[in-house]
Amino acid sequence: MPGLRPLDAPLDLTLEAATDTASTGRRELFASKRVAPSILSSDFSKLGSQIEEVMAAGARIIHVDVMDGHFVPPITIGPLVAGSIADLVHDAGGAIDVHLMIEQPDRQIEEFAKAGADNITFHAEATPHINRTLNAIRELGCLAGLAINPGTPVTAVSESVDDADVFLCMTVNPGWGGQPFIADSPDKVGRLSEAVGDGTIEVDGGIDPGTAGGVSAAGAGLFVAGSAVFGAEDPAAAYTAIAEAAGAA
Ligand code: DX5
Ligand code: ZN
Repeated sequence: MPGLRPLDAPLDLTLEAATDTASTGRRELFASKRVAPSILSSDFSKLGSQIEEVMAAGARIIHVDVMDGHFVPPITIGPLVAGSIADLVHDAGGAIDVHLMIEQPDRQIEEFAKAGADNITFHAEATPHINRTLNAIRELGCLAGLAINPGTPVTAVSESVDDADVFLCMTVNPGWGGQPFIADSPDKVGRLSEAVGDGTIEVDGGIDPGTAGGVSAAGAGLFVAGSAVFGAEDPAAAYTAIAEAAGAA
């Protein structure tokens, strides 16, 4: 975090300073309890209006699921789509949360940073160079996130506590939206919470009004919800119901 400006220092009114302030504000969103709608379950023929709908209901973090057909079987979307929604999300005071379910994530992070990502999360299972990749993400000006699959123990992140800003605990096996929440996930979130101290814990998979409360009580701060939001008849109302269950903004 930048230091406080002394009271007698001149105001920096350059575009660069304004951009820094905006980006700092977006990064701060990740430190409060938030539901992050995942566009994976949206109707891509009207992506912009679907995002506007959930942002009007209060969503400020939009989750972008990137799959490469190798780390997980499906192929989804890449930096072009992240870049196409970045201005819309940023102009409405929101942030882009990129979830890379890809092999060799270090090869792709720069493109996502350029596309406007505010946080970039990759999987601990996807590279032997976890801390190098986390540091490279931070050097690109983004928050750095580290994800673990349901079968990966929380100790996989314990040597990266100071290198990551967000710790993503998968509450389904990654690859598809609409899968059932793994029931013992709140216990795992509790263990992760003890391991990472102040870091933000994100949960992803099967989050809905019935499952959000348990992981919230266990220490989760960021709740990704795809099908429970965009698969609902009224995505805005669905967003609000999950946010209430999670105790989120
Ligand atoms: C799954 C993705 C999720 C997905 C969640 O691998 O990482 O972000 O969109 O979808 P739901 O909320 O439907 O489980
Ligand atoms: Zn995800």
